[in-house]
Amino acid sequence: MNKTLIKKFYFNVHLNEALLLENDETMTTAAKVIADGGLVAFPTETVYGLGCNAFDGVAVKKVYEAKGRPSDNPLIIHICNYAMLDNLIGYLPEKAKKLMDLFWPGPITFILPKGDAVALDVTGGLSSVAVRFPNNEVALRLIEKANVPIAAPSANSSGKPSPTRATHVAFDLDGKIDMIIDGGACEFGLESTIVDVTEEIPVLLRPGSITLEMLQQAVGEVKVDDGVIYKIEGEHKPKAPGMKYTHYAPKATVNIVNGELEAVVSTINNFVLENAPHQKIGIMATEQTKHLYTCENVLSVGDRNDPKTIGANLFKILRKFDHIGVELVYAEGFSDSEVYMAVMNRLRKAAGFHIINV
Ligand code: TXA
Ligand code: MG
Repeated sequence: MNKTLIKKFYFNVHLNEALLLENDETMTTAAKVIADGGLVAFPTETVYGLGCNAFDGVAVKKVYEAKGRPSDNPLIIHICNYAMLDNLIGYLPEKAKKLMDLFWPGPITFILPKGDAVALDVTGGLSSVAVRFPNNEVALRLIEKANVPIAAPSANSSGKPSPTRATHVAFDLDGKIDMIIDGGACEFGLESTIVDVTEEIPVLLRPGSITLEMLQQAVGEVKVDDGVIYKIEGEHKPKAPGMKYTHYAPKATVNIVNGELEAVVSTINNFVLENAPHQKIGIMATEQTKHLYTCENVLSVGDRNDPKTIGANLFKILRKFDHIGVELVYAEGFSDSEVYMAVMNRLRKAAGFHIINV
């Protein structure tokens, strides 16, 4: 394949005629790539997606190839209106409708009974289908202009942290895909919440910015799948096939240090003293603690008083450790409270479940 075409989408309110035209051309080009069976990476409010026509089996296969993704790991289908949903699903369960009314368009994906029009290649052979109505202007315009539902996994190489910037996509997939639309940094930075609504009691398969408590408030009891908390081995089998794979892993070994913040800082400083002579070390700190470390590569992931900043920066920071070539990362942990459930889920996987409790 030729070099990937990268086009910027301009959001600036002072858009002049030329830039407006350029935005329109970008979307027309992207829609044509999709119509021709190609792959377009595009921003959403969660992470960048790698999109293709959900009804084009050959294009779907190319998505798996570009990412190096196992074929049993199904894709999420993205829509821009409810009419598109009708063609994808068998029927709409009552609780799904209630949750959609509350949270769509937005950072939540529903596992629904699959409709006949959806090929098994997209669902990894499952009789259910994952659907999301994103809340991002570029994503919505792209789906609208392409006029087909767009199947899109996160636009990273399989196993790497999901991309939250166009540069992350280019780093992983340049030359393997047709086009990247650069719409700037993603608002949430963590992938969507996934809820299985095919059974009477909904099941949370992947935590995200729509929290467990928000779901429970809307529909009462919600179960939490094993794959959300536990390392996948033995009797713990995740319902979302993707949750069983190694994920979000930077090249460095990551250790999470959990506990009272003061103890966490002193423990990490001790580890640095011990290991610094032999290994290049990085610390994932927060705004509250970044000045308390003596190590060279201290990166702040965000503000503990503003958890949204931590979700938004997590994958960027994990990628940055790779970029500066650290071999060992100590990451401050967070409580498993409502707001940090999604952050800790990703961080535990990035760390291969290496957790030091102090
Ligand atoms: O925020 C997001 O969800 C992003 C953006 C691009 O929308 N997409 C994303 O896709 O994170 P991906 O492919 O990286 O993750 C999709 C997850 C995988 O863990 C997959 O196994 C699960 O959804 N999944 C898809 N279809 C499923 C199904 N029918 N049943 C259970 N899990 C499913
Ligand atoms: Mg992914």
